[in-house]
Amino acid sequence: MTEKLIISGGKHLSGEVSISGAKNAVLKLMAATLLAKDVTKIYNVPELTDVTIMLSVLGQLGAKTSYDKVEKSVTIDTRELTSIVAGYEFVSRMRASFIVLGALVGRCREAIVALPGGCAIGERRVDFHIRGLESLGATIKIENGYVHAQAPRLEGTDIYLDIPSVGATENLMLAAVLADGSTRIQNAAQEPEIADLANFLNAMGADVNGAGSSEIIINGVKPEKLHGIEYTTIPDRIEAGTYMAALIGTKGKGIIRNINPAHLTFYTSKLTQMGAKIKLIEPTAFEISCNQRLKALNIVTQPYPGFPTDLQSLGMALLTVADGVSIITESLYENRFMQVPELRKMGADIHQERNHALVKGVERLSGANLRASDLRAGAALVLAALMADGYSTIDNLHHIDRGYELLVPKMRALGADIERINDESDIVADKVRGNLNGTGTTKI
Ligand code: EPU
Repeated sequence: MTEKLIISGGKHLSGEVSISGAKNAVLKLMAATLLAKDVTKIYNVPELTDVTIMLSVLGQLGAKTSYDKVEKSVTIDTRELTSIVAGYEFVSRMRASFIVLGALVGRCREAIVALPGGCAIGERRVDFHIRGLESLGATIKIENGYVHAQAPRLEGTDIYLDIPSVGATENLMLAAVLADGSTRIQNAAQEPEIADLANFLNAMGADVNGAGSSEIIINGVKPEKLHGIEYTTIPDRIEAGTYMAALIGTKGKGIIRNINPAHLTFYTSKLTQMGAKIKLIEPTAFEISCNQRLKALNIVTQPYPGFPTDLQSLGMALLTVADGVSIITESLYENRFMQVPELRKMGADIHQERNHALVKGVERLSGANLRASDLRAGAALVLAALMADGYSTIDNLHHIDRGYELLVPKMRALGADIERINDESDIVADKVRGNLNGTGTTKI
């Protein structure tokens, strides 16, 4: 049964919402548990399909896992592993599964992990991961779509990344924890999720320094030094950015709780330049409001601490109705403008050339039938539908389910008119028809 979101837009959102744990941090912490032969418990774990897939990957390797929905925690027992193979059935569904490579090589000195291939937003190569592991002493063969890494001995070394890749930095950190001697990763990614992983590893007994800066030094430790821990992951800055955009785009007013404001500085400054009011009312809560038409501005996505690529589609949706012309440059991925044709259906005026998009702000968007092509493009369509006049439907929800826990209840807590319904339901047809015959609010 396929499902759709049905959204009636044009309402000013107001209320409070609390942000869940960071998907892109927690997936890596889960993989890191493989390094210690012990039981680890992680809190603030969002209930998402990506988390379920990572639990299955760990289960396939022989770890015993459980998820407590009430406590929002995972418990992972890695005392005995029974396999070194992470299969295509999981890696193809979630490329972040590739992170188990570094941890398995560290602990078992051998790993066989399916290659993720490209995805909707770009080619997404893993060459830095592979080259880095080779510099640490691993022998790597690529056969039948799998990476087979063998490393009877791992020796610390200097690794320079051509691009500050998040995944490569994390995979190499994990492999270096149990290497002999020190590893220095230069031009490392500086995302908050990397610092979270380093804090987690250090709590387990590892010796990782400098995470959050462009140079990370990992002093190898003996396996006996590592032990299970209890750890709470950081809040999801991309989910926070999504709800901030929803309040701003609907000219609403509300409070976003459980955030780390330091993780959102660049984004917050851009939203303020657009005309939003963002006030830190508690160390972990923003009050957001906007009561004017947004102003156009330019956005260039960059590795952290620059404007996050994962919020580029949300920034674009806001700018579709801003006063003036904006230019958005996507510098991390080749194909991360998948939201553009869908936003055009709603009346947006966007001209795209390669990785640049010229957005001429229009007065208003109108509801339409939309399709999510990937996680963040899907989130941008939810935002655009909330901003638009009339009804919109959004399908292909499995993309959105990967990264937004309780999207519908959280949006409803802010007063949004949003429902998740069975595709075949008559309500969808009736409501969207309402846009056309005037019983919706779209002016045609
Ligand atoms: N790259 C290479 N070779 C490599 C590794 C990366 O060419 O070996 C390139 C990629 O093709 C890409 C760029 O470097 O063009 C950056 O990729 P990076 O490795 O930093 O990204 P990632 O680790 O695959 C994580 C997040 C993404 C987020 C990026 C950038 C996870 C699970 N995913 O991906 O999140 O966009 O960092 O911040 O942590 C999302 O949540 O929707 C999402 C896509």
